[in-house]
Amino acid sequence: MDNWRDVNGIMQIYPRSYQDSSASNDGVGDLRGIISRLGYLKGEKDSLGIDAIWLSPIFTSPMHDFGYDVSDYKEIDPLFGTMQDFDDLLREAHARDIRVMLDFVPNHTSSEHQWFIEACKSRTNPYRDYYIFRDARPDGSPPNNWLSVFGGSAWQWHEQTKQYYLHSFLSQQPDLNWQNTAVQQAMADVLRFWFGKGVDGIRADAIRWMGKNIDLLDDPINSAFTAGQDPYHAVEHRYSRFSPELNGYLKIMTDVAREHDDKILIFEDHLDSLSPVESQIRRINSIDPEVAGAFNFEAMHRQFSARSFSEMINRYQAYLPAQARAFYCFSNHDESRLASRFGEKQARMLAVLQLTLPGTPVLYYGQEIGMRDGVISPEEVQDPFEKRVPNKGLGRDPARTPMQWSDEPMAGFTKLNRSWLPVNSDYVANNVRLQQHSNNSLLSLHKTLFNLRKQHHVLLHGEFKHLQTTSDIFMFERKGEERFIVVCNFSEQTAHVLLPHNLDCEAHVVAAAHNAAMVGEKVRDSVTLEALEALVLAC
Ligand code: NOJ
Repeated sequence: MDNWRDVNGIMQIYPRSYQDSSASNDGVGDLRGIISRLGYLKGEKDSLGIDAIWLSPIFTSPMHDFGYDVSDYKEIDPLFGTMQDFDDLLREAHARDIRVMLDFVPNHTSSEHQWFIEACKSRTNPYRDYYIFRDARPDGSPPNNWLSVFGGSAWQWHEQTKQYYLHSFLSQQPDLNWQNTAVQQAMADVLRFWFGKGVDGIRADAIRWMGKNIDLLDDPINSAFTAGQDPYHAVEHRYSRFSPELNGYLKIMTDVAREHDDKILIFEDHLDSLSPVESQIRRINSIDPEVAGAFNFEAMHRQFSARSFSEMINRYQAYLPAQARAFYCFSNHDESRLASRFGEKQARMLAVLQLTLPGTPVLYYGQEIGMRDGVISPEEVQDPFEKRVPNKGLGRDPARTPMQWSDEPMAGFTKLNRSWLPVNSDYVANNVRLQQHSNNSLLSLHKTLFNLRKQHHVLLHGEFKHLQTTSDIFMFERKGEERFIVVCNFSEQTAHVLLPHNLDCEAHVVAAAHNAAMVGEKVRDSVTLEALEALVLAC
């Protein structure tokens, strides 16, 4: 594979839940476990054929937020293994031509990071300004009204030094002060360390919060907020995120990537009314669109309809500058699983859609077999978000249950009789081994689609052209040196679709979301799609 542009897709692995190795056998996934599953991803007869993996954080951490609270950015947490295990993983992955991305958490450290421990010693400690400490207001209340994503004020009182410190997430995740050039250099140094080791890319966590208003102005009250909603939305996050300095901080990171050949950074940068598509793309464009990209998470919050998906994709593609690329992400470790959100049939259809869109699609482990949200009883809850803001459906445990490898006990995830989160009860009927033996499984469909992307780079880089949107149908074309037409039927009814006259080609079906028997069928002027079918036609 020549460079990142030719990568056919990225698989997000949540290391705790992928594979527990027999060496540790503690009910928590680890690096040796991932190594043992690399052949599933690429390089063997039955492999999925995906070119890159992204590992959610594996660095030393007290695990209050399961690794998104880093206490040493240059060490591997013993729960996941050793640096030697990581080096082995990198080597084994590269031997299979799989690129490895790590999850970097620039906005905050763990409260157990040495920098924070030092910062807490006194107001004059050299590390004090690595974080954001401020005096209380005269009445003793926090410096402003900013909220923590995980509930309550974003300020925590530090009794010993009699000041508050800022934490946009848990109080165990103090925010770094990116205005401090020492912080900028220290974080650049971390990136240099991992790129130097041969890591191919970085997913940068929670970048929105890195830039906050220097004067710490109060966020405006959200007048549309209603009780029952996520309490974080009680204010509009106008000043606590996205300050104008943010782009400069991100540029520091892309500049480090530029010191090496062919590295990428993908920003976790959600869209909302204060940061619409236009400003995300402007941000990427002003930083370094050849190296940096942002996930497009919109599908996770969209209604399942042809018009909704068509509008989202057309708008995004229209804004994307030529040298930038899209990273469409339809599910991840923070949101309900695709098959649970939209339904199983719908998930098949969306697999065809996601893997025929331009750019580099990002999948979440288990998405390729249609894993569903797990059922987590109150005693089994692990997620700090659910613990702090309970019973609002915000908890992320359901999407993080162990990978379903086989119908063996514990789905083949661990040899122990328990795991950190329970294995989904449907694992006997839905697992990798079963799907590997079926030509019409969702896993086989993913293999077909990844293979198509591999064989036909026009699907990665070719022009995206919208052809038609109705209340049921979304149809588009990918063209360049070759030409593909993708037709998606979002309705539960059979649809007869006329192909545009000016297509002027005889096409044949190369992939079908449901009816694999259609593959090879010739199509000229029109095509019939069963409920929720999606077809890829090659001209
Ligand atoms: C976004 C991550 O995806 C999420 O899992 C984490 O809890 C927060 N950032 C805080 O790091």
